Amino acid sequence: MAAETASPLPSNTFPSQPTKITSIKTLAESPGLTSIPATYTFTPDLHGQATSVPEGSIPVIDYSLLISGTPGQRSEIVHELGRACQDWGFFMVINHGVPQKLLSSILDGCKGFFDLAEEEKQEFKGNNVLDPIRSGTSFNVSVEKAFYWRDFLKVFVHPVFYSPTKPAGLSEISLEYSQRVREIARGLLTGISESLGLEGSYIEKAMDLERGKQIFIANLYPTCPQPELAMGMPPHSDHGLLTLLIQNGIGGLQIQHKGKWVNVGTHSNSFLVNTGDHLEILSNGRYKSVLHRAMVNSKGTRMSIAMAHGPSLDSVVSPAPELLVSSKGDEPAAYIGMKYKDYLELQQSNKLDGKSCLDRVRISAV
Ligand code: OGA
Ligand code: NI
Repeated sequence: MAAETASPLPSNTFPSQPTKITSIKTLAESPGLTSIPATYTFTPDLHGQATSVPEGSIPVIDYSLLISGTPGQRSEIVHELGRACQDWGFFMVINHGVPQKLLSSILDGCKGFFDLAEEEKQEFKGNNVLDPIRSGTSFNVSVEKAFYWRDFLKVFVHPVFYSPTKPAGLSEISLEYSQRVREIARGLLTGISESLGLEGSYIEKAMDLERGKQIFIANLYPTCPQPELAMGMPPHSDHGLLTLLIQNGIGGLQIQHKGKWVNVGTHSNSFLVNTGDHLEILSNGRYKSVLHRAMVNSKGTRMSIAMAHGPSLDSVVSPAPELLVSSKGDEPAAYIGMKYKDYLELQQSNKLDGKSCLDRVRISAV
């Protein structure tokens, strides 16, 4: 979750109570907990109604064909990628080559982190959005009126690799996982560049991916006695270019599609991928950064790992000039340029006045 632009929240309908909770896990494990504190309660309208789409409607991308398919298969997949980015901003990636064992090891490693004693986790608290390791609860407790039923660990893993030193073994697994996932993100971004009619290496070069920011975000959503009142993560878009998500077999992710909330479910051994704000900016709005949120449930503890891939911190991102000229005439840039680092800081600050970060860089039609 290193990577979000939160939507304005409706205020809590219950009076807020002072709380010293540093992890929702501790609260959720309180013996005999049958209801949740008012500070975790959201008005029903934030939950909105979610629908389920028929099996198979979310686009599926066969990564092996992108990497080693015949030229015909490859161009077909590039076309499908473009469609997926345009119509959904969200797709599943199968045949990615990352061993199932590595996926379960990294999920286990993160569970080990969340299972550490509270004092141990506090060592990795961090304070600033640019701190390389931050662990905490909710979303941004300094500006929230109500809290989210979520604990997190957020770590910068590229261009410099960081990892908490506990639990033992997490660092090694995280390094391997981060490298494997970054490779897939690069492959997908090559295909996405081509789908925009640009050179395969366009995004890689323009966004300086050699020094690109890769952020590892583990999310823990413990079993909740009143899931209909709580919220795991608010509606948000991810700020980077591409996020690859895995889950522990318990669903809860919903995405916005054609104005409706849609349940995504879980799909073992595949990555759920979504496009972020900076791909929307770079593509001048051809590809949208889609809103998504995480619900909680009473059936079991859910875990997800989101790996966000962004430009280098110094990159100034603006619409690709190549996309603004066409045979049909010039297209106006719909976004102003902003340095990725400034965008990250703005997004985590309380200076957004209820706007999303994208609204700040979008040029409104006059
Ligand atoms: C995120 C995110 C969704 C989930 O970490 O940015 O959207 O289901 N996570 O945990
Ligand atoms: Ni997200």
